[in-house]
Amino acid sequence: MAKLIDGRAIAERVYAELRDEIASLKSRGATPGLAVVLVGDDPASRAYVRAKDKMCRELGLHSVKLELPATTTQEELLARVNALNRDEKIDGILVQSPPPPQIDEAAIVRALDPRKDVDGFHPLNVAKLTLDDDSGFVPCTPLGCLRLLRETGTVLSAANVVVLGRSMIVGKPMALLLMRKGIDATVTVIHSRTRNIPEICRRADVIVAAIGRPHFVRTEFVREGATVIDVGINRMEDAGNERGYKLVGDVDFDGVSKVAGAITPVPGGVGPMTIAMLMSNTIKACRQNSTSPGTVLKN
Ligand code: GUN
Repeated sequence: MAKLIDGRAIAERVYAELRDEIASLKSRGATPGLAVVLVGDDPASRAYVRAKDKMCRELGLHSVKLELPATTTQEELLARVNALNRDEKIDGILVQSPPPPQIDEAAIVRALDPRKDVDGFHPLNVAKLTLDDDSGFVPCTPLGCLRLLRETGTVLSAANVVVLGRSMIVGKPMALLLMRKGIDATVTVIHSRTRNIPEICRRADVIVAAIGRPHFVRTEFVREGATVIDVGINRMEDAGNERGYKLVGDVDFDGVSKVAGAITPVPGGVGPMTIAMLMSNTIKACRQNSTSPGTVLKN
């Protein structure tokens, strides 16, 4: 049986470090502040936004939660983003994705002050990730996956890592991080047009699954002893559950956990780490915005 990678326990370790940093920032008169913006009432997005706001409060950060109606126009949302850009109490801004269809998400992301873009979605931060410039922000989910791999002692240098999915939120930044100098993985990115997916996956020392398809990665995709990181959070109907659904990952956990060396559960794997990295990015933004320009800080 695979070793279970406990995202909640590892996130607690991150929080222990962050609490020291928060105390030190507060002693210098700086309280990190995060604004989380939700447009519309998608239940999953609402749950994520609530969890982010709650964690800010637990850590003693300044938290602003903006819940805007599904009918919000592009102009209204831009005006909100601009106001948050100017707000000195706010170090980080996150606009929950996906927004309703009338919103041009790319334009909203470009309107963010890149120094407050704790999601790492702004073109300047994407460029900084590709250029190995540590002054930028790296998207929270890939950052969380990397931390899970490091904390579990997974060797990444020269390892074959297969990333399933090429999204701007997970797949692409994950691949960029893993191929960085100093991390040195050999990365293959798989997407909907890729041929021979099971065969490619079977060559992997590490699999990161982020394609949003429930139970896509099955036992026959996984080499014995491989490490499997499951980013998927899919709602599956489950009449036996009081909510009427259960959360399942992109990996068939029951089968794959019999062959993998280590595996993340869903929930309780990547999810808690994404929030921990959002907090870490917010604290980084606060440190960076309260030190002299040009100072480069790591997470
Ligand atoms: N939707 C799913 N993941 C994310 C994330 O990391 N950031 C934002 N803003 N929206 C998301």
